[in-house]
Amino acid sequence: MAVLIVGGAGYIGSHIVKALQKDSREVVVFDNLEKGHMESIPEVPFFQGDLRNKNDVKGVFKKYQIDSVMHFSAYSLVGESMKNPEMYYENHIYGTLNLLTAMKDFSTRHLIFSSTAAVYGEPLKIPINEDHPASPTNVYGETKLAVEKMLNWFDSICGIKSIRLRYFNAAGADPAGDIGELHDPETHLIPIVLAAALGERENITVFGNDYATEDGTCIRDYIHVNDLSEAHILALDYLKSGNNSDMFNLGNGNGYSVKKIIEVAEKITGEKISVRSGRRRPGDPAVLIASSDKAMRVLGWKPGFNDIESIVKTAWKWHRGKAKTWITNKPGTEEQRHKGTKEK
Ligand code: UFG
Repeated sequence: MAVLIVGGAGYIGSHIVKALQKDSREVVVFDNLEKGHMESIPEVPFFQGDLRNKNDVKGVFKKYQIDSVMHFSAYSLVGESMKNPEMYYENHIYGTLNLLTAMKDFSTRHLIFSSTAAVYGEPLKIPINEDHPASPTNVYGETKLAVEKMLNWFDSICGIKSIRLRYFNAAGADPAGDIGELHDPETHLIPIVLAAALGERENITVFGNDYATEDGTCIRDYIHVNDLSEAHILALDYLKSGNNSDMFNLGNGNGYSVKKIIEVAEKITGEKISVRSGRRRPGDPAVLIASSDKAMRVLGWKPGFNDIESIVKTAWKWHRGKAKTWITNKPGTEEQRHKGTKEK
């Protein structure tokens, strides 16, 4: 019996595939390759499909014996969600509905869902724990929260147990340097800073230096992608041991400002990074720091990469190494990458 990894060719999904395989667990990746990379899942059973296409979703459940699901497939750009909300509603809500329907039809009862700190909106207190009111300030967070609510109903009505993992800022890469973060376009701070260190970008623009923080720039809680992997495996085993559905924050509990990240990147890369000051990016809260006490207490999770230097070091190894080969080797035709998205 396999774990179905929906969105398994993407940044976070592919790291979890690697961790599950290392743990000798059977996996199947389902991905439409719109954002994912085949290079990130070498020698992994793969089904190309789109969650918005019911036949694709049924197809993978028919073809493989699936006993549990991890769901990473999503759009994740806050700004884009405020321009094209329909993309986010369709992909997250309609897509997840198709997945849940197939899970119901094929009697698959365990789901781990990638949620986000964006469900909380503007924090009322720091650190943020799971009791903090969920009041998203953008469509991205709103649709993730709507899916979380949908999961409650599929639990009480259909018996599908789920764990919702609310990530703070996922960062870093596989320490071996084999896989890592590669988005097009890239909007995340650490990859952008490292691209500037590599000379692939002229500079980095800091979005706002007048926040009420020590150095005026936004503070975030960066959590290593391998620590996220570990939490997913613990969460799956937690459900398989007969526990109830639940939700957990995943962060390090430490905040770093944008300026601090640039400083750390300069130290690790040995390069001077050219910095420009820009306007605030709409929708950016000043400070987001997690309390992950619940995940530690209930799941027994403990992040291994708890200092920012070690996180940035793994990202640096990836960006100056294998990432370069991926950029020129994007596989699949445009038509293949979008397979399924046009059919319904
Ligand atoms: N930043 C810059 N310049 C850049 C890019 C980012 O100053 O070129 C700043 C942002 O303004 C923010 C910080 O760096 O203050 C981190 O930005 P990221 O884009 O790396 O990450 P976000 O905190 O915006 O986003 C993350 C996840 C989202 C999720 C969000 C929840 O990537 O998926 O947290 O708040 F929605």
